[in-house]
Amino acid sequence: MLAKSLVSLATYLACANALIPLTIKGNRFIKPATKASDDGEVFFLKGVDYQPGGSSAYTGDDADGDVLSDANACYRDAYVLQQAGVNIIRTYTVNPDVDHDDCMSILNDAGIYVLLDVNSALDGQSLNRDSPSSSYNAEYLTRVFKVIEAFKGYPNLLGFFSGNEIINSESSAKLSPPYIRAVQRDMKQYIAAHANRTIPVGYSAADVSTLLKVSFNYLSCDNDDDSHADFFGLNSYEWCSGSTYSTSGYSTLNSTFSNASVPVFFSEYGCNTVTPRTFEEISEGIFGGLLNTFSGGLVYEYAEEANEYGLVVISDSNDTLSYKTDYDNFKSELGKVNSSLSIAESSVVNRSLASCSSSLIQSEDSSFNLTFTLPSQPSDITKLIKNGVSGASEGAIVNIDAKSSNYTILDSAGDEVDNAIVSFSGENEVNSQDGTTPSVASPSTSAVSSSSSTTKAASAANTSTSKGEAGVYNAGQIGPVAGLMALMVSALL
Ligand SMILES: *[C@@H]1O[C@H](CO)[C@@H](O)[C@H](O)[C@H]1NC(C)=O
Ligand SMILES: *[C@@H]1O[C@H](CO)[C@@H](O)[C@H](O)[C@H]1NC(C)=O
Ligand SMILES: *[C@@H]1O[C@H](CO)[C@@H](O)[C@H](O)[C@H]1NC(C)=O
Ligand SMILES: *[C@@H]1O[C@H](CO)[C@@H](O)[C@H](O)[C@H]1NC(C)=O
Ligand SMILES: *[C@@H]1O[C@H](CO)[C@@H](O)[C@H](O)[C@H]1NC(C)=O
Ligand SMILES: *[C@@H]1O[C@H](CO)[C@@H](O)[C@H](O)[C@H]1NC(C)=O
Ligand SMILES: *[C@@H]1O[C@H](CO)[C@@H](O)[C@H](O)[C@H]1NC(C)=O
Ligand SMILES: *[C@@H]1O[C@H](CO)[C@@H](O)[C@H](O)[C@H]1NC(C)=O
Ligand SMILES: *[C@@H]1O[C@H](CO)[C@@H](O)[C@H](O)[C@H]1NC(C)=O
Repeated sequence: MLAKSLVSLATYLACANALIPLTIKGNRFIKPATKASDDGEVFFLKGVDYQPGGSSAYTGDDADGDVLSDANACYRDAYVLQQAGVNIIRTYTVNPDVDHDDCMSILNDAGIYVLLDVNSALDGQSLNRDSPSSSYNAEYLTRVFKVIEAFKGYPNLLGFFSGNEIINSESSAKLSPPYIRAVQRDMKQYIAAHANRTIPVGYSAADVSTLLKVSFNYLSCDNDDDSHADFFGLNSYEWCSGSTYSTSGYSTLNSTFSNASVPVFFSEYGCNTVTPRTFEEISEGIFGGLLNTFSGGLVYEYAEEANEYGLVVISDSNDTLSYKTDYDNFKSELGKVNSSLSIAESSVVNRSLASCSSSLIQSEDSSFNLTFTLPSQPSDITKLIKNGVSGASEGAIVNIDAKSSNYTILDSAGDEVDNAIVSFSGENEVNSQDGTTPSVASPSTSAVSSSSSTTKAASAANTSTSKGEAGVYNAGQIGPVAGLMALMVSALL
């Protein structure tokens, strides 16, 4: 079933750094070939959940707690992520009114995709699981649509999460499911009307064993209204260091999702009851026993917060970032994933969605909501979809010149990491889904949002050598061999 093949160096050189929007076929994400006539390949998520500052840092004021708005931090973290072999991050909260062009462009150039939650913990900026009808309104959807506007132009955006763990108890399973599908319906209608590619919309589920299969059945079936989840993320902490495939519960997950007709992956994993974490679930579980069923996962989480799930410790007081042993172990486990693993798109079977019916639900859980008649769309929301949300800033990829930040990076032994420079292999190209490569707007002419952030990156460039290690590559130059190798790996998986 797994057609493994080596792809020639020439292929990498041809498509080097430009990320192409991912698509979906059956239960797989697909990285299309840069030439539409060529075969694409399955994309596995080698991901990290990314929210330095923690979930409570977001205030809604300007860039406070918006982790995709600080180019200096993004250079730093793109390097750290690239070194570990990461090809995607999940970010939980953004302010759609601030500029994300620099960070999204840095990530794009570094070969890193993004999954984005559209909600925030602020009042009125998500569905209320216990009172969904009161929170489903045009004010909430205005935020959601602004997030879509802000990110729809980035080719390295994989997709949006409509919700995170909204269904997490018997009571939330009674009322909220039809509303989750209503939000997905509205998001997909908005994307169809205002974006020029299909951007997947999915859901991130709580690992409540009694609600898992039924939530999946409810959210992923075909209701004739395009309201289904295009992918299904699971936040699972079942495998703690020392577990095995069979003791962890992964074998149960493998059968639960073996027939999935949309991609399934871990939107969070990384139990920390045993530390330092050794992450055998990567080689033995996610890319081992689950390989035919799951499409990878995102480890929780990048930066250390009070709950101690970090791979790295960031100290803003002295501009240092230190690797924990967890970072080394994570990198080593990702390194074990066979970089020759390549599954051709043509070998993936497109699976049709089950048709929604109450029997899909009743067979799993009698207390779960059985209704597939969704809340009707309020006319204010219909108007927003028809006319577009006003006052939105549309993001776009910009050229990035600076390749380093002014942070000092320390390894897990406390020694400074030399040459901590993101590897970019050339111009920051944008590939479209049809395989053409339109040129990127230069910073001075890019028709983007009102902010002037495109000059921010440039000015950071030459002030960034203060730590002595930093250097700058010019766009258009091919980076060092190590950089090319990193890109080769990211192009493969
Ligand atoms: C898969 O099948 C569905 C309908 O069964 C269709 O809408 C979709 O376009 C197909 N996808 C691919 C990649 O062939
Ligand atoms: C698609 O949208 C992006 C951003 O909105 C724009 O830069 C690009 O030119 C568009 N492409 C096409 C083919 O319309
Ligand atoms: C299903 O959810 C809808 C919307 O919240 C609610 O009106 C309905 O009462 C729920 N049905 C059951 C059986 O709980
Ligand atoms: C998967 O689908 C097949 C064929 O439809 C069916 O026989 C099997 O029971 C399903 N397995 C699960 C775990 O749902
Ligand atoms: C997981 O399920 C897939 C699909 O049914 C199957 O091919 C694979 O062998 C299973 N993995 C293990 C370790 O049993
Ligand atoms: C930076 O600050 C952190 C926390 O205040 C401290 O633990 C660390 O040792 C400092 N690093 C350096 C290189 O000074
Ligand atoms: C990786 O895949 C290649 C090509 O299929 C194979 O020859 C090699 O043995 C694999 N290595 C490991 C460690 O599985
Ligand atoms: C590093 O850059 C940030 C933002 O660009 C700035 O706030 C900070 O003062 C700089 N630190 C040093 C030591 O240059
Ligand atoms: C940074 O320095 C390089 C080489 O000295 C120069 O070519 C470039 O214009 C400078 N960039 C900025 C933004 O000052």
